[in-house]
Amino acid sequence: MTLLPLALGSRLSAALIVAAVFVPVPAHAAEPTLGELAAAKGRYFGSATDNPELSDAPYVATLGREFNAITPGNAMKWDATEPQRGQFSFAKGDEIVALAQKNGQKVRGHTLVWHSQLPSWVSNGGFPAAELRSILQNHVTTVASHYKGQVMHWDVVNEPFNDDGTFRDSVFYSTLGQSYIADALRAARAADPGAKLYINDYNTDGIGAKSDAMYNLVKSLKSQGVPIDGVGFQGHLALQYGLPSQVQQNLQRFADLGVDVAITELDIRMVLPADSAKLSTQAAWYSDVTKACLAVSRCVGITVWDYTDKYSWIPGVFPGQGAALPYDENLAPKPAYAALRTALGGGTTPPDPGLSCKVSYKVVSQWNTGFTGSVTVTNTGSAAINGWSLAFSFPGDQKVTQGWSAEWSQTGAAVAAKNASWNGTLAAGASTTIGFNATHSGINAVPTAFSLNGGNCSLG
Ligand code: G3I
Repeated sequence: MTLLPLALGSRLSAALIVAAVFVPVPAHAAEPTLGELAAAKGRYFGSATDNPELSDAPYVATLGREFNAITPGNAMKWDATEPQRGQFSFAKGDEIVALAQKNGQKVRGHTLVWHSQLPSWVSNGGFPAAELRSILQNHVTTVASHYKGQVMHWDVVNEPFNDDGTFRDSVFYSTLGQSYIADALRAARAADPGAKLYINDYNTDGIGAKSDAMYNLVKSLKSQGVPIDGVGFQGHLALQYGLPSQVQQNLQRFADLGVDVAITELDIRMVLPADSAKLSTQAAWYSDVTKACLAVSRCVGITVWDYTDKYSWIPGVFPGQGAALPYDENLAPKPAYAALRTALGGGTTPPDPGLSCKVSYKVVSQWNTGFTGSVTVTNTGSAAINGWSLAFSFPGDQKVTQGWSAEWSQTGAAVAAKNASWNGTLAAGASTTIGFNATHSGINAVPTAFSLNGGNCSLG
């Protein structure tokens, strides 16, 4: 906060001037976040997240600030919640629900019945139909009951179709036929009547054989009185395959069946390396998908499948592809982020996290295979920083082997340094210097971008 004197007229007495009223005003008017912009349009804007990421303070800060809904990326799946028959484990899901509640975020439950991340005791159990049906009902009932009242939507059934629109030959379909879908939905409704129940799939975003199959399924479930409230369109898109056609019309035809629709796992990957042309096409697609959702009154929200390239599932599954999310690996917003803000009706300026910083990076000494680095962080803002995490990426193969004056960690090229107990508070104008030893080969190029608590720092 900055204290500014109110304009005072010259006719005021000297005594009054001495007693001039000061009103606190924010140093910068905070821009609304993606979540706030979506909320102003009656929607949510969410992100997936996963438990291992929750130890990354800058990541958690942006997750908590920018999004008003969370989907656990793995924590509520069958292999996490019932790894052995009848033995349920909710620790990971509970951790994410607790974080969401602390942040005032909604939770999309993901997912109760899916062919993947299904423990082998289910997929290879060879159960007769009656027993498998009871296993499925027990799983759905137990998990949905545990989270009763805490989950806004459940992806009750995930990915029931093949790309050609035939039913996927999962153990559930091959043993029970398509009746497993209605059974799962009924069990979920009975366990948590307040949660909206969804079926969720990928490659159903535009109009085509697979979305036609989903459409026919939902129509038939509705006509039989099976509880179904929504359809999730995952939105795993790729620049090299083109933007699916008729996304808005597709969402609308489902809405016209009397269900809600949501974009549940949006990411837009590209063949690496990213360049400005690809990032700008990606930004345009994020905008197009968002506008398609906003144009359909029953499209209730959008979720990105994690928000930063640092934690995307894509490079692990599609080698050579990635850069799919609105924030880069250093948690800096990309053109897609600005495009999302504009599509949601906001300005393009990122919200001011109330922080301003300067970083000076020095190679103190260097030898063939290693070097010692020092980083001075200065709080150039007007308020104290209480607890900080510095993030940057090495341009080469440098690896931190030892660090001091901060808790150092490194994943791939991305380095994080969290304050030590004694230098967590940086008063306005204060600096602290932290250091590390690292290995390297070839040119020991210096990092060029640094962020503190998710806000970019200047170099100096
Ligand atoms: O937990 C183990 C760890 O113990 C082990 O050391 C490590 C070694 O590979 O694997 C870890 O499990 C990984 C798990 O994520 C948790 O991180 C699995 O290998 C990995 O396959 C799994 O990937 C998940 C993927 O679903 C599985 O299909 C992704 O994180 C998750 O983002 C992704 O999400 C799916 C949605 O649920 C459905 N729609 C598609 C979407 C993307 O594939």
